[in-house]
Amino acid sequence: MIKGNNIVTGVGSYLPERVVTNDELARKIDTSDEWIKERSGIRQRHIAAEGEYTSDLGVAAARRAIEDANMSVNDLDLIIVATTTPDLTFPSTASIIQEKLEMRHGAAFDIQAVCSGFIYALHIADSMLRAGPYKNALVIGAETFSRILDWEDRSTCVLFGDGAGAMVLSTANDSDSGIIANFIRSDGRYCDLLYVDGGPSRTQSVGHVRMVGNQVFRRAVKDIAIAMKECAAIAGIEPKDIDWFVPHQANQRILDGVGRQLGLTSEQIISTVAHHANTSAASVPLAFDVAMRDGRIKRGDLVMLEAFGGGFTWGATLLRF
Ligand code: UT7
Repeated sequence: MIKGNNIVTGVGSYLPERVVTNDELARKIDTSDEWIKERSGIRQRHIAAEGEYTSDLGVAAARRAIEDANMSVNDLDLIIVATTTPDLTFPSTASIIQEKLEMRHGAAFDIQAVCSGFIYALHIADSMLRAGPYKNALVIGAETFSRILDWEDRSTCVLFGDGAGAMVLSTANDSDSGIIANFIRSDGRYCDLLYVDGGPSRTQSVGHVRMVGNQVFRRAVKDIAIAMKECAAIAGIEPKDIDWFVPHQANQRILDGVGRQLGLTSEQIISTVAHHANTSAASVPLAFDVAMRDGRIKRGDLVMLEAFGGGFTWGATLLRF
């Protein structure tokens, strides 16, 4: 068995109560359930309530992950939050979550790698646990992406949703489980294919998501497949050797394309895109939690996580659960 190191001791997720179907969107903008389903696989998305913030979603997912790990907040040393939709420009959403969890010790910070944020955050947590002296890191992907959508731009607003997912990552001596390999990449040449047209320094505003969808699509399929091969190669295996593929949930056609390139069966691919749409940094831990709780992903399974997003940023994580 391949040896891992830091192990995923708990997983949790949270989705806002309100569900918005494609038909509901089609009543407000020039789109249709048929177009959205055919081009993306998305049927519905969850949208945060007024007064419900990214930190609220993140805290709810975190509490479930901490409970799943049979731990309390006192056991945590680090909180790392991946988000593109922080509650405020500062302090970090991680600091706000630390306060909401009443955690009076340790360190908390955010990272920004858009849809790849959770993969980046896991790599950072894994590295920090390996370096020490930390024992347990709470890694959260949380987004209220609905707040940065232009609800009149049909080419983007139908594709995203809100949600949060979390994992507790813990040091372990002599474990057969855990994170085996990390692979992250970015290429700033593609900043203008997927971006937000506002920010504190340039516009003193939050801005809205802009995307050249078909160009992002082509790069995503190619780069995700490369990332998965590179990540698997670090561990001396091939992507088809994994039990489960937990991808970023942007588009069902991307998942199918990557699956075909790597020789994965559709049963191996965890897909939640139909129900959650693209929840950016939250999508990977959310999908993992769904598949763990419905009994597909079990302890001992070999799982590959993957994401691709603005920047471009992309990456993959191989772990034995
Ligand atoms: O999470 C970060 C990474 N993001 C992604 O990976 C997203 C990648 N991109 C995609 O998922 C797909 O490119 C989309 C789902 C965004 C679009 O699918 P597509 O097959 O690439 O379509 P397209 O952009 O080439 O647009 C086709 C047509 C256009 O009309 P014309 O110019 O052919 O007449 C659009 O105006 O579809 C039209 N269109 C729509 N029609 C109905 C665009 N959005 C909509 C809409 N409803 N919501």
